[in-house]
Amino acid sequence: MIRAKDNNFILETDNTTYAFRVTGSGHLEHMYYGRKISLGDVDVITEKSAFCPGTSLNYTQDDLSFSLEDICLEASGQGKGDIREPFCELVHADGSRTCDFVYDSYTLKDENPHLYTMPCSYSANKLPAHLTVVLKDKYYDIALELHYFVYEKCNVITRYTKLINNSGDDIRLLKLMSTQLDFSEKDLVLTTFNGAWAREMGKNETKVVAGKVVNCSRAGISSNRANPFVMLSDESTTEDMGRAFGLNLIYSGNHYSAAEVSAYGKTRFVSGINPDGFEWIVKAHESFETPEAVMTVSDKGFNGMSQNMHKFVRNHIVRGEWKNKERPVLLNSWEAAYFNINEKKLYNLARAAKRCGIELLVMDDGWFGERNNDTSSLGDWKVNLKKLPNGVKGLADKINKIGLDFGIWVEPEMVNANSDLFRKHPDWALGIPNRPHSEGRNQRILDLTRTEVQDYIIDAMSDVFSSANIAYVKWDMNRIMSDVYSSKLEAENQGEVAHRYVIGLYRIMQTLTTKFPNILFEGCSSGGDRFDLGILSYFPQIWASDDTDAVYRVTAMTNYNYGYPMSTVTAHVSNCPNHQTLRNTPLDTRFNVAVFGVFGYEFNLPDLDMATLKEIKDQVKFYKAHRKTFQYGDFYRGRCDNLHEWTVVSKDKSEAIGLLMQELAHPNSKDHKYFAKGLDEKTVYEFTNSPKPVSIKVFGDLINMIAPIHIKNGGVVQNVIDKFYKLPGEVEKYRASGDTLMYAGVKLHQAFAGTGINDETRVFPDFASRLYVMKKK
Ligand code: GLA
Repeated sequence: MIRAKDNNFILETDNTTYAFRVTGSGHLEHMYYGRKISLGDVDVITEKSAFCPGTSLNYTQDDLSFSLEDICLEASGQGKGDIREPFCELVHADGSRTCDFVYDSYTLKDENPHLYTMPCSYSANKLPAHLTVVLKDKYYDIALELHYFVYEKCNVITRYTKLINNSGDDIRLLKLMSTQLDFSEKDLVLTTFNGAWAREMGKNETKVVAGKVVNCSRAGISSNRANPFVMLSDESTTEDMGRAFGLNLIYSGNHYSAAEVSAYGKTRFVSGINPDGFEWIVKAHESFETPEAVMTVSDKGFNGMSQNMHKFVRNHIVRGEWKNKERPVLLNSWEAAYFNINEKKLYNLARAAKRCGIELLVMDDGWFGERNNDTSSLGDWKVNLKKLPNGVKGLADKINKIGLDFGIWVEPEMVNANSDLFRKHPDWALGIPNRPHSEGRNQRILDLTRTEVQDYIIDAMSDVFSSANIAYVKWDMNRIMSDVYSSKLEAENQGEVAHRYVIGLYRIMQTLTTKFPNILFEGCSSGGDRFDLGILSYFPQIWASDDTDAVYRVTAMTNYNYGYPMSTVTAHVSNCPNHQTLRNTPLDTRFNVAVFGVFGYEFNLPDLDMATLKEIKDQVKFYKAHRKTFQYGDFYRGRCDNLHEWTVVSKDKSEAIGLLMQELAHPNSKDHKYFAKGLDEKTVYEFTNSPKPVSIKVFGDLINMIAPIHIKNGGVVQNVIDKFYKLPGEVEKYRASGDTLMYAGVKLHQAFAGTGINDETRVFPDFASRLYVMKKK
């Protein structure tokens, strides 16, 4: 709900309040954003100033107490005394860089957000309340529209900005933020998620005491270097208690978020398109719109904040046929065969997959042009008939016939210099004419600022997607931008290229997802190099990382989960030694971690022995039985250190599944407990594990302590015994109320500690894990 009265604007969600007002000077003073308050006199939360502090400036001689440097604002200008991080920077036709936007008017409606060039949040049912506040520059005919949308149930407020140039002159826009959030205090903690290829989403906390902390991308894409999702919190905030803000952008290009502490101990947060390298000519009588920013706050810690974000992303970002549909279990050919694929291999993979209960086979890279490695053929989307003599259709039909769906990999935004497309249209790639180009994975980025290039991609992909019965598409993007230049644009417009690229991409995605509504699209960018809400507005899921190692993944998935629901994070079980880390982890742990994401395999199944295939078959069966809870339940993070603890709870709270995973074993530390989260406190649940038979190989030659005959580690006898005998594994079976499972925790069986092995012992070495099922009785 939004209340606008007497120059005060109060935006309310179920549990939060956001308040600002128009000051006497006409600026918008931000007054409050936090847990819901009933308010009274608005004066209680307005800035009081009786004098202007030394060396700060009076905005006007008419009010000697008022300085723009020491007041919380909704949208700061430039050059009138507020020397903090600006919201907007521009150059007028006369060369002046000063802008001073003051209140003009507002409108209030219930309606969905609408941007012409970018995706927005939306509501399919109750429309969000929409407040538009129009500001006007005092001296130039330029308007700034601040748009606010209130999603009550998710406790989310979104914002975007539109600059309208009504003057008769062009202006150079250097920076325009989507949101600004001023706090009257400092020492907030900014949490960012940084990384690189195969180690996305490292969590970093920086206390902002003074100066400025920036989280941004200059890669041309949202990037694995710095995900656009960030959090602000108090130092005392924990997973379940305290104030936590979640902030994101619906944008897939260069983004920028900064938290800056002022001379007077106030913190300013801004977020929007990265101004570095950006410059947009807003022609006379034209406008410029920013991406939409997403904001939420909870007083129930990071988990409370995440629940808001998850609900918002599931309901108001993800759209289309697959929004609420259970996603299939897939087998992807990449780690099974890399580029070395052919019809026979893929068919064999599909047959093995079918035997395990897998539902979809994905043919990854290598199926087109002369694509035998990563040096050629991107751009030439014609099937390689040496590998697939019956074409994509021939293969897809064969796979469909055995009862599996078929999916395909594409990387439409790219071109190899060694391709027919590039030979024909060298100017269709971004790059500075007649200058050497910096290469990444031997490929270049197509110039998506050009309509003819967008149309080429739309046509080429339409041909691929309609060439066979294609149920799923993995849309990859495997390099960052360099030599950013479009040969189609004028010199003065080159600062627009990176943003125009994103706009072009969104047009392509919009067209293709509309044309092929049944296809399940999965975003990918060398894993998580473009994991953001812009992509999720078209594709309901994204491949989170090329690193499939369970020990890495358990933390990465925890960290993705701060801002994104698990129904958007795809996760596969792969072979060991793991191809990225060479680490060996047990198959059940790889499953126990991946199963909480949108789940699949990436594995050469035909190479596996019967016992392993049986284990995989059982895994798929288990997943299918609980798929709805895994994909659409509410996910809660528990501990994330040497022990990792997760709980996912079905919507009606009648079922929950928990994970306990350990990185390194510490002997003689028997007090392992599992704490559930999110259960109904009063409901009685039956708590069980699926006992995991333990191979005697785990004990090596220690087994000789109890064995009647000598068993050589790695010897024939050990192999024979292992084939016919396993220790049964501990059984955990309890009935307990939700509050007991959550607040007392479950005291698990004693873990192996160098001595005393029997049927009750929980054998829990390095990288061990357990799943616990909780069912309402
Ligand atoms: C990227 C993706 C991988 C795989 C390869 C194919 O690295 O992240 O999953 O599809 O490309 O070249």
